[in-house]
Amino acid sequence: MRRSLVDREAVERLFLIAGALRSGVIDALAADDGLTAAQVAAAAGADVRAAVIVLEALAGEGLVEREGPVPEPPVPAEPVGEGLGGPTGNPTGAPAASRTGEPLYRLSALGRDHLVGPGPDLERWQLLHQARKAWGWLELPEIIQTGSAPPRDPASRDTRTMVSAMGERDPAIVEEIVNVCLTYAGAIETMIDVAGAVGHVARQFSRCGVRATLFDRPAVMPIAEEYLGEDAKDIAFVGGDLTEALPPGPFDLMYFGNVLHIYDPVTDARVIREAYASLAPGGVIGIQNYLWGRSRRAAMFAVNMLQSVENGGVWSEAMYRGWLSEAGFAKIETFDLETGESQLILARRPAGE
Ligand SMILES: C[S@@+](CC[C@H](N)C(=O)[O-])C[C@H]1O[C@@H](n2cnc3c(N)ncnc32)[C@H](O)[C@@H]1O
Repeated sequence: MRRSLVDREAVERLFLIAGALRSGVIDALAADDGLTAAQVAAAAGADVRAAVIVLEALAGEGLVEREGPVPEPPVPAEPVGEGLGGPTGNPTGAPAASRTGEPLYRLSALGRDHLVGPGPDLERWQLLHQARKAWGWLELPEIIQTGSAPPRDPASRDTRTMVSAMGERDPAIVEEIVNVCLTYAGAIETMIDVAGAVGHVARQFSRCGVRATLFDRPAVMPIAEEYLGEDAKDIAFVGGDLTEALPPGPFDLMYFGNVLHIYDPVTDARVIREAYASLAPGGVIGIQNYLWGRSRRAAMFAVNMLQSVENGGVWSEAMYRGWLSEAGFAKIETFDLETGESQLILARRPAGE
């Protein structure tokens, strides 16, 4: 049998799920235990024919369960006044079967765990974020020719989706990152999670007894507070732009996760110098990223950056080591994370300086 280079069904599944989430179909299902397609459509403000088609596809993917027989294929509504009620006429767009015995739809356990949660399998925002990235990937032919992503309108950014997707990172990765940082750093009292999105890493440090500060763009702060809920009271929030200034500290540990790839080498070198100044003597910097030539994911992630940011990229271990050494950091060590494909570089500001 011929095999494709691409799992086309997976691509379609992504857009099906993202569409069902954005249109409100999933939340309509989540709010009730067994709804007809017409009820789902009414709750989501959706078209009935489209709802039947999407619900059947979700059932085929195992995300929705149908109670009752497969409905007749829904046909488009006929224009008002033309042949109402004929043998195939269906002015409402509802499936023919709905007039006899309407099937009921509900989320399956799989759909609930992955799309509604809460729980470790929740990937609602990650799937929405992944689907949204398609806009940029579709511009790749032009980007390959011009060499860089076109400036994108900041108003078109979907900050909530992006940072919430980060909050759904695998808890095992977050735990490993924090464990490796703390093993390297030893006993510390304070840390700052720079560009920490909704504070999922800051929260883990806080749970380990470290006083954590979350730093990200001001627009992210209310989303982070909402995400953290009760845990927010243990975390300090600082909004700002890391390319303009870092909080002065001094902190015992500064963590930069998945962020320096957004910026060019000159900016990254400067940010690392500023991080040195915001650390207490003996303090530790942690940088987590895919390293060029070392991570299996790095090459593909570089395309992701090529299409999404103007001057960022995937940088090599040698480049990070150079910036850290020039800033004055010592004891530079690189760890390959076991729970993911990225690396964590740790380095220390010498105690007497
Ligand atoms: C890919 S997410 C990484 C989130 C988190 N550090 C992690 O590793 O899971 C990048 C984060 O950097 C933040 N960010 C990007 N540029 C920033 C800037 N100039 N100042 C502050 N935050 C920034 C974004 O808002 C976003 O939360």
